[in-house]
Amino acid sequence: MPEFITPQAPPDALPPAIPGGDPRLRVLTPDGRQAREQPKWRRDFPIDTTEDNYVARRDFTKFMVLISASFVAGQGWIALKTLEGGDRGAGPRAIAKVDDLAVGQAAVFAYPGEHDTCLLVRVADGEFLAYGNKCTHLSCAVTPDVASGRLLCPCHHGSFDLATGRPLAGPPRRPLNRVALEVRDGTVYATGVEERTV
Ligand code: FES
Repeated sequence: MPEFITPQAPPDALPPAIPGGDPRLRVLTPDGRQAREQPKWRRDFPIDTTEDNYVARRDFTKFMVLISASFVAGQGWIALKTLEGGDRGAGPRAIAKVDDLAVGQAAVFAYPGEHDTCLLVRVADGEFLAYGNKCTHLSCAVTPDVASGRLLCPCHHGSFDLATGRPLAGPPRRPLNRVALEVRDGTVYATGVEERTV
């Protein structure tokens, strides 16, 4: 806090008053010289260093409180999303007939939302696999390469294991979302999405 003195000298000999403050209170100048001997900038901005630091600390505290609040809100949002994650089910939905795909062929479908594009791959006679087709690096569309047992991302040469959806090479670090499937009466159904982080 600034040091104050009660003015008893002619006004021009006094240190400047605090702007907007009690006119009887004056700020002591750091060098102790009279007001008329102070440089113009000090007369225009009569806040001493102590007060200046006080304002700066107050602003800094406000800033830190705001940053902390944003951080807490962000963590809450992430926790919420994590709880929502895991098995994201939208109910069973028919996505293909078994006979639509030969072994080694793939088809694109949307599940659970219309913008959630996925890949259905028939890897063996009675075996289908499905994954979200957005690369976990920067969301390019991956394509299946059944012969090599991989899903390939053309953007930065990333690749994923076709059997598990886990990253094998390139920049991706997280596995692809896996779509749970059920085959009933000659029809392949998507029944849920497993969002995985490892
Ligand atoms: S977007 Fe797939 S490797 Fe970069």
